[in-house]
Amino acid sequence: MSGSTLHSIILAAGKGTRMNSNLPKVLQPLAGQPLLGHVLDVAKSLGAEIHVVVGHGAQQVQDTFPDSKINWVMQTEQNGTGHAVQVAIPNIENDQDMIVVLYGDVPLIKASTLQGLISQAETCGLAILTVEANDPSGYGRIVRDANAFAERIVEHKDANSQELAIKEINSGILAGRAGLLRECLAKLKNNNAQGEYYLTDVVELANQQGTQVAAVSAETETEVAGVNDKLQLSQVEAAYRQRRAEELLHQGATLADPSRVDVRGNVTVGKDVFIDINVVLKGNIKLDDNVVIGPNCVIIESQVEQDAIIKANSILEYAHVGPRATVGPFARLRPEAFLGSDVRVGNFVEVKKSVLAKGAKVNHLTYIGDAQIGANVNVGAGTVTCNYDGVNKHKTVIKEDSFIGSGTMLVAPVEIGKASTIAAGSVITKDTPAEELTIARVKQKTVPGWKRPEKKDKI
Ligand code: UD1
Ligand code: CA
Repeated sequence: MSGSTLHSIILAAGKGTRMNSNLPKVLQPLAGQPLLGHVLDVAKSLGAEIHVVVGHGAQQVQDTFPDSKINWVMQTEQNGTGHAVQVAIPNIENDQDMIVVLYGDVPLIKASTLQGLISQAETCGLAILTVEANDPSGYGRIVRDANAFAERIVEHKDANSQELAIKEINSGILAGRAGLLRECLAKLKNNNAQGEYYLTDVVELANQQGTQVAAVSAETETEVAGVNDKLQLSQVEAAYRQRRAEELLHQGATLADPSRVDVRGNVTVGKDVFIDINVVLKGNIKLDDNVVIGPNCVIIESQVEQDAIIKANSILEYAHVGPRATVGPFARLRPEAFLGSDVRVGNFVEVKKSVLAKGAKVNHLTYIGDAQIGANVNVGAGTVTCNYDGVNKHKTVIKEDSFIGSGTMLVAPVEIGKASTIAAGSVITKDTPAEELTIARVKQKTVPGWKRPEKKDKI
C-alpha cells in the first residue's frame, strides 16, 4: 500500500556459542565488515527503517554502529524468535506498515530477493522466504496447502517423520503487514519442544484467521545461509568473494583467479582491466580501461586511470594514479598521493600527500611527503623529503625538468628551481636557483698515510 513505511526488524540477540569467540556473533567479520553491517546495508538499500533486536553483547554491538540511524531494541532474555519480534513490534505503530524480518547472522541476502518477498506480502499480508535444502536437518519445514500457499512451519524438533522428509525449509526471513503480525504474535504459545515463542507459528495463526501466506523460494541456499560457527563463516566469506568477483567479471574485468580477489567495496572497472592473484580492493575504487593490477596489491579508495600499471606488492590508499603511470613493485601510495600521467614510481618508494606532475620519475628507495613535483623531474634513489620537524609538516617544491641526485636530503620547507641539478648526496636546506648545479655536501678528501687501528693480540 503506497504511503506506508517499510520497517526491518533484524534479530541479533543470540550468543553464538559455537563461534568460540569473545566477539558477539553478529560482529564477526565478513569481508572486513561485521556480519550485521552487511544486513544493515541491505535493509538501508531497501529504504527501510531499521530496528535491531540485541541481547548478548548488546553494548558492544551498538558501539560498533554509532552513526547509523538504528532503533536498538533490548531483548534481555532470548525466549525465541517470536519473542524477539514481539519486543520490537511496539515501535511500529501503523498497522498498514510493512515489516521485513532479517537476521544479523544471515549476511548474503539480496535486496532483489527481499523486494520480491515484500511485494508478495503486500498482496497476501504475509510472505515467507523458503529454500530447497540439500540437507534440511535442523531447519523448520514448510507445509504447503493444496494451492501452494504456506500452511504452517514445523520446527525440526517438533516434526513427525512425514514432515521431516520435506526438503523445503524456512529461511527465517519473512515480510508481513504490521497489523497482521501484531495480532498473530499476541497469540504465540511456547508449548513446543524448545519451550520457545516461535516466530514461525505466525504462519499457522495467519491461516487460522483467513490469510493465505505466500511462500517465496530463494534462488540458492547460500543466499539465506546463516552463520553459526567459524566453518560456516569461512564458507560465507568464500561465497561473498565469489559473488563480488563475478560482478567484476560481468563488468568486463579479467581475473587471474576469481577465488583470489577480494572485493570489499564498490569497484568500477573499465574495459580490459586485468587483476592478478591475491588482490584486495576496499572502499570506492575506479579502475579505468586497460589497467593492470599485479599480484598481492592492496587498493583502498583509489582511482587508477587508463593504461596504468600497478606492479606486484604495491599498496594504494586514497591515491590517484594518472594514465599510463606505473607504480611498484613494492610501492606505497598513501593518502593524497596524486600521480599525473606517465609518472613512474618504483620499488620501495613511499608517496604521501604529494602531487607528481606528468612524466616525473621516482624509481627507487625514496620518501616523497608533502611535496609538489613538476613535470619530467627525475628523483634519484634514496632521496628523502625531510618534511617533519617533530611538530610541523613542511612542503617541498621541485620545479619541472629538475634532476635530483641520489641520496639527497631535501630539508623542507625548500624549493628546487626549474631545470636545476642537485648533486648526489646533497643536504639541501635552502632554495636552489633554476638551471644551475647545486652541490651541498662535504668535499671529498684523502688523508695520506692514515692507518687502520689494529686489533690487540688475543690471549
Ligand atoms: C529458525 C527458525 C527455523 C529456520 C531457521 C533458519 C524459528 C522458531 N525457527 O530456527 O524455522 O529454519 O531459523 O536458520 O524461528 N534470536 C534472537 N532472540 C531470540 C531467539 C533468536 O535474537 O530470542 C536470533 C538469534 O540470534 C539467531 C536467529 O534469531 O540469529 C535465529 O534463532 P535460532 O534460535 O538460531 O533459530 P533456529 O533454531 O535456527
Ligand atoms: Ca540458527
